[in-house]
Parts: sequence; C-alpha cells; structure tokens
Amino acid sequence: MSEVKIHEIGKEFFLVKSDEKDLHRNIYIKRFVGKDGKSVNMIFDPGAKIDIQMVTSALKTLIGGVQNLDLIFLSHQDPDLTANLSVLLSSAPKARFVSSIDTWRLIVSYGIPENRFYAIENFKNKVMRIAKTGHRVQFVPAHFCHFRGAMMFYDFESRILFTGDFLGGVDSRKGSGIYATEESWEGISIFHQIYMPSKDAIVETVNKISLLNPLPEIIAPQHGDVIRGGLVVEFLTRFFDMDAGIDLIKKEEPGKDLSLTALNSFMDYLNKNKPEVHKKLLIKLKKAGTFTTIFVLANNSLVDIKVSTKTAIVSIWELVKSISSPEEIHDFKVTLLTDLDKYNIPLDPEVFEEVGEEKALEEIFDK
Ligand SMILES: [Fe+2]
Ligand SMILES: [Fe+2]
Repeated sequence: MSEVKIHEIGKEFFLVKSDEKDLHRNIYIKRFVGKDGKSVNMIFDPGAKIDIQMVTSALKTLIGGVQNLDLIFLSHQDPDLTANLSVLLSSAPKARFVSSIDTWRLIVSYGIPENRFYAIENFKNKVMRIAKTGHRVQFVPAHFCHFRGAMMFYDFESRILFTGDFLGGVDSRKGSGIYATEESWEGISIFHQIYMPSKDAIVETVNKISLLNPLPEIIAPQHGDVIRGGLVVEFLTRFFDMDAGIDLIKKEEPGKDLSLTALNSFMDYLNKNKPEVHKKLLIKLKKAGTFTTIFVLANNSLVDIKVSTKTAIVSIWELVKSISSPEEIHDFKVTLLTDLDKYNIPLDPEVFEEVGEEKALEEIFDK
C-alpha cells in the first residue's frame, strides 16, 4: 500500500483524506498529550469501509497502532463515517466511542455493547474533561444539520472545530491541497442546498458556532476543504442568504420549469451540432455519486433540479466548459445565453464573468 499522506492542521491535530475527486471524506486524529507525556488518542468520523487501510496506516504512524486508540467520536450515524466502528472497537479493546444518544440509537444496530459508549448528553454543559492529560473539549449540537442528533467537537487547544457534515462540501476547488479558497464556496453551497434541511437549521448551527469562546480558528469538516483564516467568518455569514433543502422544494422557484426548458434546449443544440460534446456531457451528468447528480435525468433530458436554478445553470456551464475546446466555449456561451434569454431567465453576469463575457452579452442584447 502506498504511504498515507498525513497533514497536521493544528496542534497534535491530523488529517487524512480519501482520494475521490467529487466528494471525499476527511478523517481526523487528535493526540491529547499531557505535561507528563501521557496521551489520549482520538479519531473523528473514522470513514467508510474502503478507508480502513488508510485509517490503520495513519494510526500506526501517529499513535503506534490502532490498539492505542482511546476515543472515537461520531458526529452522526451515516455509513460514510461509522462503517469502521466495529472493527476499530474490536482492535482497540480500551477504546470507547462518543456520540449523541440520538446517534447511538441507530448505531446500536451494528451490535456494539453499550458499555463501549459515552453519551454526550451525560457531560455537564457538553464539556468533556480528559483527566489523564488535563484537556477540556466542548461538544456543540448541529441540530438537523443534517441529523437531529448531529454533534460537532471543539478542541480548545488547537482552536479547531470539527463540524462533521456541516460546512462540508463537494470538491469545487481546483488543484490539490487541503485548505479552502474562495473556489470552495461553490461546493459548500451545493452540498448544503442538497443535504441540509433548511436555512433555519443552518442559521441555528451558525449561531451555536458564533457563541464559542474563543471563536474557532479552523473549521475541519468531514468532506471538502479545511477552512481557516478570514474564510471561517466569511463562509458562515453567507449562509444567512442561502436557501436550502425544504426551502427550495417549498418555493419550487417559479423559474425552475423554464430553466429546465432552456437548459434542455441548449442540450438539444449540442446534440445536433456537437454530438461528441453532448455525449460527454451526458456521461458526466449520469455519473452516479458525483455532485452533478444535482440534476435528475430521464431519456437524456433534464427533468428536475435539486438546487437553486442559479446554481444549476452555473454547474452545467462549468461542466460544458470542462469538456469543450477554447474555440467552442464562446459559441456555446452565446447559445446558452440566448436560450436563457428566450425563456426570460434572469441572467446573472457573475455566472459568465470569464473570458468573452461582455462580448457574449453584447451579442445577445444588441441583437
Ligand atoms: Fe451525513
Ligand atoms: Fe458525510
């Protein structure tokens, strides 16, 4: 097995990540080290079955082996983070796992004995003191984000807040690396529009984070990029202006059907004039498990959108760009803008701000 890359993102706080290109998993390991050198070793959301080799390899490097694991934190019950719980608990006889009782109620179906479980609700004020090392950590609820009993974990020593799925994102940032840039927001926005229940639930969780004292310096989510510096407050603030989940379904944006018609008209154009691009686009749109499944397809036509129409239009344009030659891009842009204009879909200049935007817009509006 090739060596696992381990990133230290804060004091004794480490990250390993799976290598999917669209939606990967982040797994974190923290070593709480006391003044006398004794340590307590903790893992956060230890991944899916396919991550077990990566996890055991990282644990070997960082703490001398899985048997030295003391604590396993589960933010909620999803299989992308709980599937390795049984094997870790059997390999680390003294390890316990920590979660909310709501999570435990579902985790119990793995057949795990209750004496291996610490309920977060039993810690006064949700603060856990690690007697052996003298550390203090705080659990923070993320109610309905995206599960009733979802929990986050604040490590005061490193000022890292592990947020589980909250502030996670699909991978929209270009290039390698682990830290968020402005480009990461698109993926966070798509992920939250699809997986979080509503703006209200998101804002409630943002408010919980804003009450932490001191504020976290780093946000470590289970998917996407690690967020640090000014982007922490910047991204948290943007949620106040973003609908998600049931908000989008309830509103059933009036423009949604028209947007689907316009996008299908654009795809018909590709099919007739650039069949090879059309074919590639369909392959991308149908690739299960990628964030392009924000669209629902039937008979090679778009029949539904799971995010806002603006996000959908941006996403399809990004896909088209990724499979077209520079010469084709301008023509495609004019065609797409013409289709959107034909159905009175408001054009957002930000969407098409790259090369040729002004020229393309002029061709539409001066016609
Ligand atoms: Fe989840
Ligand atoms: Fe997840």
